[in-house]
Amino acid sequence: MPLLRIDNLQIAYDDVGSGSPVVLLHGFPFNRSLWSEQVDELSKSHRVITPDLRGFGESDSSAGTATMTRMAEDIAALLDHLQIPRAVIGGLSMGGYAVLAFYKLFPSRVRALVLADTRPQGDTPEAKQGRAEQAQRALAEGMGPIADSMLPKLLTPETVAKRPEVVRRIMEMMMKTKPEGAAAALLGMAAREDQTDLLTKIIVPTLIVVGRDDAITPVADSEKMHSTIVESRLVIIEGAGHVSNIEQAGAFNREVSLFLSSI
Ligand code: MLT
Repeated sequence: MPLLRIDNLQIAYDDVGSGSPVVLLHGFPFNRSLWSEQVDELSKSHRVITPDLRGFGESDSSAGTATMTRMAEDIAALLDHLQIPRAVIGGLSMGGYAVLAFYKLFPSRVRALVLADTRPQGDTPEAKQGRAEQAQRALAEGMGPIADSMLPKLLTPETVAKRPEVVRRIMEMMMKTKPEGAAAALLGMAAREDQTDLLTKIIVPTLIVVGRDDAITPVADSEKMHSTIVESRLVIIEGAGHVSNIEQAGAFNREVSLFLSSI
């Protein structure tokens, strides 16, 4: 597994395939293995780079708050390291928050965007308070309470009932996350900027994908992004909740492949 050192932190990533580069950022509280089906498929025609965001997977955690801006800067440093001037940048949920922060900072480095199960708006005061409490709880009690409370919001009831292997995989990813990494990202998500105004400035081709039954970032958020981002295409994935790339990997991959071949 390749590693990049940034500010005394090791950032782990995979870099698979060759061709035009595509960077995929995972959601919370997951790691780069979230993208394994996409790496398998997209790397047949593209160079696919999947980092563990700071605090997750095999990357180190930073103390305090891991802001979306900091994560975006990590991605820019990774692209510098890999000598990639410009790439398609995609992210799911928290990964999407970091993607929007990246576009704000480095628009000229973005060839196209993939915004999956995400949203542009910042947290409400109540949500910020909830994140602070969750961060404390993660540090005191570990990942169990977060994983248990998130699971039913991540997957459709049908997947929870009928696909134990998907449930196990999602639970394992969450339970493997370091509580200090999760706490830093929770504070970072609470501090994130509202990027609604940025949407009007996005001028690159953008694919917006969302699970029909996404309970965390509902279809309405994606519809709003679609109506504001000029060159965007919206795809609603049937039979999927928040983690649409795993629940309906075939449909998700088809849409992303189609999009990549169209740009
Ligand atoms: C995620 O999937 O990354 C998180 O649920 C996003 C969030 O909590 O806002």
